Amino acid sequence: MSILSPTSSVSALFPHREKFPSDDTVFPISWYPIAWASQLKDKPVKRRVVGRDVVVYRDSKGQIHALEAYCAHRGADLSLGKCVADGIQCAYHGWQFNAEGHCTKIPAHPNRPIPEFAKIRAYPVQERAGLIWIYPDDLDVPPDLKLFSELEQPELVLVPYEQTWKAHLTRVVESVLDVAHLAFVHKSTIGKRLSEEIKLVDFDVQEQNQIVIRNGGGLLEYQFPQQWILRPSTPSKSQFINYVTFCPVDSDTTIIFGYAGRTFLRKMPFMNPIFRRYSLKVLTEDKAVVESQHPRPIPEALRMEAHVPADGPQVRFRQRWFQFLASEEPRIILHPGSSQPEKTGGQVVGEPHAPSSHTLS
Ligand code: FES
Ligand SMILES: [Fe+2]
Repeated sequence: MSILSPTSSVSALFPHREKFPSDDTVFPISWYPIAWASQLKDKPVKRRVVGRDVVVYRDSKGQIHALEAYCAHRGADLSLGKCVADGIQCAYHGWQFNAEGHCTKIPAHPNRPIPEFAKIRAYPVQERAGLIWIYPDDLDVPPDLKLFSELEQPELVLVPYEQTWKAHLTRVVESVLDVAHLAFVHKSTIGKRLSEEIKLVDFDVQEQNQIVIRNGGGLLEYQFPQQWILRPSTPSKSQFINYVTFCPVDSDTTIIFGYAGRTFLRKMPFMNPIFRRYSLKVLTEDKAVVESQHPRPIPEALRMEAHVPADGPQVRFRQRWFQFLASEEPRIILHPGSSQPEKTGGQVVGEPHAPSSHTLS
């Protein structure tokens, strides 16, 4: 579907949506990347994802585990502690926690039973494609993590790069779906030879989480909520790909994890920094503009910003995002004014819960 000509009115294609003031605090629950696997060695590492501070560590077999970052005893930061045979040990009084978040040792009272409440949350976590992915809900069986096949193909050399933007996830996603900015923001890099005029935005939506854009010799594929890849539109022996995925740290900050991948010059590692620098240069060109956008997340209704045919893929993304907000899909709601879900009476405010009743109108 969805080849928009300049004469079609994009804003007429999609319904308006009523304002819902705290949409910027609502995020899908999904597998999110939080760190490079190579960054996690024998010391615990703390990261924040959708407003939750988590600590990740490797056990003695090298297996990765993820727990909430603060000790059940006096709330000390567990990343100050150390990895021990059966889990992680807090730096303050030495309590130990296993992979399920249960306390297994209280050194001050070795002969007393460990109280039931001495536990913290454990999260599903896995290492794939050189990244650590966390599912920010404590499901026993989370859904599969779906990755583009290129990320696990041995014939591709993948050069990692990373940048942090002070921007809401939705604005970051839109920046990689935007065709018309290339000739302006990237006029000295990837947009150098591109026309300012967009005669046609050729994009497809074959299933609800996917947007595919054909742009010159490139084929962009986006998977909701936060994975994107650029491939050549025709297969060739010398293949170059670019991949990005996003970690919404909270409602103001998003980390971009990227790979520049190639099948050529594979045995020339001195080329890797060149690909990394170029990818970061392109991201830096976007950063200033995206961080400047107001409101911080995309607005609560299509009518609140102007759309033209060149914005077709972004409008499709907004439609999917609004569908998410109005549906029963799993979500995390951050506490307004606080990026860290709060604990009250043993309950976590900011837990995934039933969606609000706001609807598309
Ligand atoms: S705060 Fe962690 S053991 Fe006391
Ligand atoms: Fe860009």
